[in-house]
Amino acid sequence: MIFVLGATGKVGRHLVPALLDAGAPVRALTRDPAKARIDPRAEVVRGDLDTSDLPALLDGADRVFVLTQGHIADREAAVAQAAARAGVPHLVKLSTTGVHFGQKDAITTAHAEAEQAIREAGPVWTILRPGAFMDNRFAWIGSIREENAVYVPDTDPPSALVHVRDIAEVATLTLTTSGHEGATYGLTGGEALTAEQQVAILAEAIGRPLKYVEETESAAKERLIRMYGWPAKAIDGLFALKRESAPHERVVFDTIERLLGRPPRTFAAWARENASAYHHQR
Ligand SMILES: NC(=O)c1ccc[n+]([C@@H]2O[C@H](COP(=O)([O-])OP(=O)(O)OC[C@H]3O[C@@H](n4cnc5c(N)ncnc54)[C@H](OP(=O)(O)O)[C@@H]3O)[C@@H](O)[C@H]2O)c1
Repeated sequence: MIFVLGATGKVGRHLVPALLDAGAPVRALTRDPAKARIDPRAEVVRGDLDTSDLPALLDGADRVFVLTQGHIADREAAVAQAAARAGVPHLVKLSTTGVHFGQKDAITTAHAEAEQAIREAGPVWTILRPGAFMDNRFAWIGSIREENAVYVPDTDPPSALVHVRDIAEVATLTLTTSGHEGATYGLTGGEALTAEQQVAILAEAIGRPLKYVEETESAAKERLIRMYGWPAKAIDGLFALKRESAPHERVVFDTIERLLGRPPRTFAAWARENASAYHHQR
C-alpha cells in the first residue's frame, strides 16, 4: 500500500488516481475527509501531521509519498523517522529545484533539511525536485475575471513552468516501479516562457484579450495584501524565494521526457484545460 501525504493538494489530487490506475492500493491523508473529495477507490484517513499518531497512520505502508506545506523540515523529518521505525521500505519526497541550485530562501532551506533527513532516515529514498508549477497561474484568476488584466512584478523571470500531472506521473513511476532508488530528479516543463508570453497563451485559450501589466515589487506586495489578505510574512517569504529562484527558473531539465518517454505537457495545453476557471462569473 502506498501512503500519500498531501492527497488533496495540487500534485496529490492527480497522484492518487494515477496510482490507483497503475493498480497500487492507496491510503490518502487529509485533515478533513468531508471536504476532501478523494478518489473513492482509495482508503481515506483523517490525520494532521502535527498532532496525529504517525505510527498508526504509517502502519502497513510499503511506500510513502512525502509532501507537506509549512514546517516542512520538522514534519518531514518526523515522518521519515517514524517510517524507518515502522519498517517502511521506500520514501519518495516532493522537494524543489531550489535545492539543486543551492538557494538560501526559507522554503528551499526547509526542503534541503527535509531531503537530508529523508536520506539519513534508513528507508530507500527518491527525491523529486519540481520547479514552479503551472497551477501557480491560478493566482491570476481574480484580476482576469474582474478586469481582463494580469499584473506581474517587473522582476519576474522567464519560467519553465511544470504541469502538476507530469509531476504526478513521475511520482507514480517512482512509487510503482524499481530503478529509482537513490535518484534525485529535477522536473520542469520543456521551455521557459516570459510572463508576457504566458498571458498571451492564456488569452488565446480563454478566447478574449488580456492586458499584461508590469508593476513594481512594492505595488505587487500591496496587491497581494489587498486582493488576497495574505499576511506580510508570507508575502516577504514568497518574494525572498522569487529573488533567489529568478536566475534559475529558465533552466529546463530533460528528466520528464527521459522518464516518461514523451515531452512534458505545455503551458498551452494547461491553459486549454483550465480556461473555464478564468471565465467571468455570472
Ligand atoms: N507551487 C510551486 O510552484 C512549487 C514548486 C516546487 C515545490 N513546491 C512544493 O510543493 C509542496 C506542495 O505545496 P502546495 O503549496 O502546492 O500545496 P498543496 O500540495 O496544493 O496543498 C497542501 C497539502 O498538504 C496537506 N496538509 C497541509 N497541512 C497539513 C497537516 N498539518 N497535516 C496533514 N496534511 C497537511 C493538505 O491536505 P488537507 O488540507 O486535505 O489536510 C494538502 O493536501 C510544498 O512542499 C512546496 O514547497 C511547490
